[in-house]
Amino acid sequence: MTATRHLFPISIALATMALPAMPGYGQGLPAAMRAGKADYCVECHGRLKGRGGIAVSEWKKSVHAGQGENCNLCHGGNPDMADKNAAHDARLSFVGKAVKDGEVELCGRAGCHGPAMAVFRTSPHYGALKKSGKPGCVTCHGSHNIQKSRVAFIKAEDCTACHPAGDVEKVLKSMAEIEADIGAIEKNAAYLLDKNAESRDITEKLLDVKILYHSLVHVMSTREVQFTRKEIELLLRDLRAGAEMRVLIAKRLDLIYFVTIALSFLVVISFMVFTVRAFSRKKE
Ligand code: HEC
Ligand code: HEC
Ligand code: HEC
Ligand code: HEC
Repeated sequence: MTATRHLFPISIALATMALPAMPGYGQGLPAAMRAGKADYCVECHGRLKGRGGIAVSEWKKSVHAGQGENCNLCHGGNPDMADKNAAHDARLSFVGKAVKDGEVELCGRAGCHGPAMAVFRTSPHYGALKKSGKPGCVTCHGSHNIQKSRVAFIKAEDCTACHPAGDVEKVLKSMAEIEADIGAIEKNAAYLLDKNAESRDITEKLLDVKILYHSLVHVMSTREVQFTRKEIELLLRDLRAGAEMRVLIAKRLDLIYFVTIALSFLVVISFMVFTVRAFSRKKE
């Protein structure tokens, strides 16, 4: 299990708890209470051509849809109204297209991704976003087909408007290496867990690394890229070696276990053959 997989249900749970308390946002009923009710945002937009309709087909594949969260989670409005103007209800904080850094307000408001937003606010990119409308959450995560995040989602051409292509390539490559290491360690930790071997300390240290990586990705200041990245790489090197060693030991124990069983079988079978032979000789 990855920490982010834990984070997601938690943030959804927090969102569901916090939304009723917030004036304006998410006035649509929570998914569970809506069960069985028509959602007219999805119905009407599903019939639209162009971006209004694409939003639906994209959203359907997203983690948000998987969690039973619909259009009004982000856009507000009233999904119980079949009429467009009644659905796009400004009193229920309907937000149409996000303006400039509005998308950040859409994703990063309290109850949704407030913690990621708090990190992003300290980024030089937050300043750039306010001036030029990029790079925001949507630049890297997309708007409707939102999936579990990986650096592979980032398109270099979204960065090269402001940075030399070589620099961007370097940064993205080193982030991809960090993700590959995290993945390899997670795989080994899962193996150890499966074998009932100690893996908790690995998972806990890996969570620290993931928090650092989260901050690296979302702040991306020169400082983060130079120092935090080095720190992450050092931590990962140790963790990776430790986990690999433990897996090796677990695999060796498996081998010893297997050989012991095989030998025991051999002994039992030889003994049986021996007795059968001795018995038939006696008969003769
Ligand atoms: C009966 C049809 C209908 C319903 C119901 C409906 N919409 Fe729309 N929506 C439209 C159309 C048509 C547009 C295209 C732009 C326009 O005419 O306002 C649109 C535009 C939008 C836009 C883009 C606005 C912009 O500024 O570009 C968003 C976001 C949106 N709808 C979200 C929602 C949400 C959320 C709901 C439910 C709470 C909803 N819609 C319900 C028909 C509908
Ligand atoms: C996770 C939050 C989220 C959900 C859920 C969501 N949207 Fe959006 N939507 C956004 C954001 C953010 C933008 C602005 C995209 C941009 O600025 O590039 C947007 C933009 C739009 C637009 C303007 C055209 C476009 O693609 O930029 C329409 C229309 C729209 N959404 C309709 C919908 C409908 C219909 C649903 C439900 C099926 C929905 N959205 C669900 C976040 C969301
Ligand atoms: C609208 C302009 C803009 C866009 C688009 C943009 N950045 Fe930045 N970026 C900045 C600014 C401004 C800074 C802070 C000033 C600096 O240190 O260069 C910065 C800083 C950085 C830094 C740390 C500075 C360094 O070189 O050590 C990295 C790494 C970075 N950005 C990566 C990216 C990536 C990856 C993308 C694409 C998702 C991206 N940027 C998109 C404006 C932008
Ligand atoms: C420069 C690209 C970039 C930008 C800009 C960005 N993110 Fe991310 N985000 C990532 C990457 C890569 C990950 C995966 C690594 C991690 O978990 O930190 C991620 C992870 C996340 C996660 C963890 C959940 C998951 O999908 O695994 C959340 C929540 C999140 N981002 C929210 C935001 C919000 C909200 C904003 C805007 C305020 C934002 N991000 C802006 C690249 C970005």
